[in-house]
Amino acid sequence: MKNFDLPIEVAGIKFKNPFYVASGPTTKSLRQLQEIEKTGWAAASIKLTMDPVPYINRKPRYGLFHDRDALAFTAEKRLDMEEGLRLIESGKKALKDLILMANITYAGDDGVEGWLRMAKRFEDAGADIIELNMCCPNMSYNVELTKGEIQEGKHTGASMGSDPEIASEIAGAIKQAIKIPLFVKLTPEGGQIAKVAHALYNVGVDAVGSTANRLGIPVIDLNKPTQAIYHLQDEISMSCHSSGWLKPLAQRDTYEIRKVNGDEPVITATEGIRSWQDAVEMIMCGANLLGICGETLIQGYDIVKPIISGVKDYMKSHNYTFMDDYRSLIVPEVKSAPELTLHDGHAWLTQPKLAAPCKSACPHHVPVQAYIYYVAVGNTQKAYEILSEFSPLQEFCAYICDAPCEEACIRGSLDRPIAIKEIKKYIFKEAEKNSWSYKVPYSSKLNKKIVLKGLNINHLSTAVALCRAGYDVEIISRYQDLTQEIRQNYIEDHIPQAVVMRVLDRVREEGVVLTEGKTDGEVKAATDLEAFISEIPVATEADKQKLIVFEGNGSNLYEAMFLALEAGFTNLTLITSGPKRFTSTMVSALKGKGVEIFEGVNLGDAEINENGQIELALSLDGFEKIIYTDKFVRAGRTSSIIREIADGQNNAAQIDRKERGDESTVHTMKDDKFPVVSRKKVIARQQPSVLTEALTSSKKIDYASEVASWILEEANRCLRCGCGEGCQLCKTICTDFAPQIVASDELQINVDACVACGMCYLRCPNQIIDMICVD
Ligand SMILES: Cc1cc2nc3c(=O)[nH]c(=O)nc-3n(C[C@H](O)[C@H](O)[C@H](O)COP(=O)(O)O)c2cc1C
Ligand code: SF4
Ligand code: SF4
Ligand code: SF4
Repeated sequence: MKNFDLPIEVAGIKFKNPFYVASGPTTKSLRQLQEIEKTGWAAASIKLTMDPVPYINRKPRYGLFHDRDALAFTAEKRLDMEEGLRLIESGKKALKDLILMANITYAGDDGVEGWLRMAKRFEDAGADIIELNMCCPNMSYNVELTKGEIQEGKHTGASMGSDPEIASEIAGAIKQAIKIPLFVKLTPEGGQIAKVAHALYNVGVDAVGSTANRLGIPVIDLNKPTQAIYHLQDEISMSCHSSGWLKPLAQRDTYEIRKVNGDEPVITATEGIRSWQDAVEMIMCGANLLGICGETLIQGYDIVKPIISGVKDYMKSHNYTFMDDYRSLIVPEVKSAPELTLHDGHAWLTQPKLAAPCKSACPHHVPVQAYIYYVAVGNTQKAYEILSEFSPLQEFCAYICDAPCEEACIRGSLDRPIAIKEIKKYIFKEAEKNSWSYKVPYSSKLNKKIVLKGLNINHLSTAVALCRAGYDVEIISRYQDLTQEIRQNYIEDHIPQAVVMRVLDRVREEGVVLTEGKTDGEVKAATDLEAFISEIPVATEADKQKLIVFEGNGSNLYEAMFLALEAGFTNLTLITSGPKRFTSTMVSALKGKGVEIFEGVNLGDAEINENGQIELALSLDGFEKIIYTDKFVRAGRTSSIIREIADGQNNAAQIDRKERGDESTVHTMKDDKFPVVSRKKVIARQQPSVLTEALTSSKKIDYASEVASWILEEANRCLRCGCGEGCQLCKTICTDFAPQIVASDELQINVDACVACGMCYLRCPNQIIDMICVD
């Protein structure tokens, strides 16, 4: 039967487990020592005793700096000879089996003699072990460094422990004079800890270890840089830092002592241990006894229990019976840089076209984050080029798309989706204002003609795709006014006629021939939401009290209602019907402002009654209601125009395949696999936008004058979730410029340039980079 207890014998003393509370503020009184014994520690090293009376002895000031995972102190109280001796004597009387180490420093003028005297008095008082403190950086080192010079003469603590000759002279003399074991606790400050340890083992010291603590500058308050960050302290001062941040340095100290001094000597490691994992790692670096100080101050003595059981469980699961079975395990394995086996390889994208959810959700896979990115960085012209080179029909979407991209936007799970459609509309308005143009991505002519009958969005999309692929394409309309068919059949009525004409002009410029037929039918009268917006600033108080009912489902309606609310309109009702467009965030924001909302209801024709009021009949599954209102703003329903554009593209691909078989170049949207970014934890890069603030506060927006800055802010809220002209993190950080954007949403890694350093692999927020071995 294997025994997983952790006893360990050092210099004839049996420790029931390897854990002791290292010298510090948690080992300065009998009451503390009793707690230490009760909670299961094997030993305690009592608080440093200094003789003569410590020349730096202040009440303690501790700082806990979570940002750097450090516990630091600027001042600390030590014991004098009488206090130290009394603690050992009373401890030996009152405690059952707790092993007591006397942590001592002689700071007088008698040199070795003084050290000897001190050690012997503690031996006589009953100490089980003498631990020479040659580590404390808060004493002589701190004083010397703060003065700006290393002083000759009186050495204590760390300045002594970094000198092999002085340290071994003192330790050697004490070892000869006492019968109990002698430990020495060294500092890493001098940079030669293994060499000093070697000298000490040579003069018979039973165990050597390090404190790992370093003097450092504590947190600087940027607003009051010369004031102390510590409570109840005025000046700034260097501080002695311990805890988590020094774990790798502490492990290095232990590893170094073990590596230079071989398997036999005993090492005490009192550094950066806070969990059973830390303890196991430290044993693997070569430690025999494990001292913990900082964590007992932060969490209390009880932490030893989970640490002991964690180490035992680990040993059981790895079939280790004794700590010796894995002690120093890594020591012979640690290699220097020239000895390392490095495999040739490079970074590899597992999803080179990783799309942001906005793009994946869009049936036509419009590269949303790419154009938002260019708006965000102030290059709206490039955003226009991306959109138009993608499809000349995009301006339609800016007005009437039901925007599944916004519904899918990851930012929505944080606060509010990006107002993608509004950004797009802004891009086209800027293009019009500045007369921007774009380059059409043509293929060479095929000398094949395709005629499509009926001018609809689907056919326009098909025609553009085929024309760009090299076909001659003609669309024949039965209407004389070409805009009429589009406006009547697809867009209902809230897209400006000028936009329709502009898009048709662009389609013509791309080479599609539009042939006018005869007119039959009327263009419906437009409900002008923009006219309502323009009336807001001149509305009277009486206008603002009136009940106004809106009907529609577009984001432009949402924005208009907010503008009205901000301007003081108090009595608004919203009826949504048709495809669901408003997100739940939008709905609850409106409700929060007192808007009555009827979602997804059927709306009968608006009638005017004898009182001149407008009567609206609502119904849904047995629910019926009549609303009487003074003003009815019909914003229009959005049809799924983007679905039609995608279908048109697919039709073009089908025609092309029929015409050219395997030579076909028009791609189907269905064939494109765009993996969706699924990460939920995203980091907001920007402060909330003006609009978000407006939704949550009383800040007013001057829509007309603030639109450009609002759009810029809105674009900067985008989290750039996917690859290409979005995230760009790997491209930005690669020191060898290996990642390259090859299409607006596509990235490639130049494997010849990549040196396989692994930074992109470590940093990619979507974890789509692997490191490939090629040898
Ligand atoms: C507030 C404080 C006081 C300390 N005082 C002493 C001391 O009196 N004697 C000593 O040898 N080490 C002292 N140390 C060092 C600790 O014993 C220990 O070696 C060091 O903090 C690293 O271990 P840790 O990471 O578990 O804190 C002190 C540490 C702290 C944080
Ligand atoms: S945050 Fe930007 S990239 Fe991400 S889903 Fe929304 S619009 Fe797309
Ligand atoms: S770091 Fe960004 S751009 Fe690069 S692979 Fe990852 S998601 Fe794509
Ligand atoms: S950061 Fe650059 S060099 Fe490093 S692995 Fe990535 S692509 Fe290669």
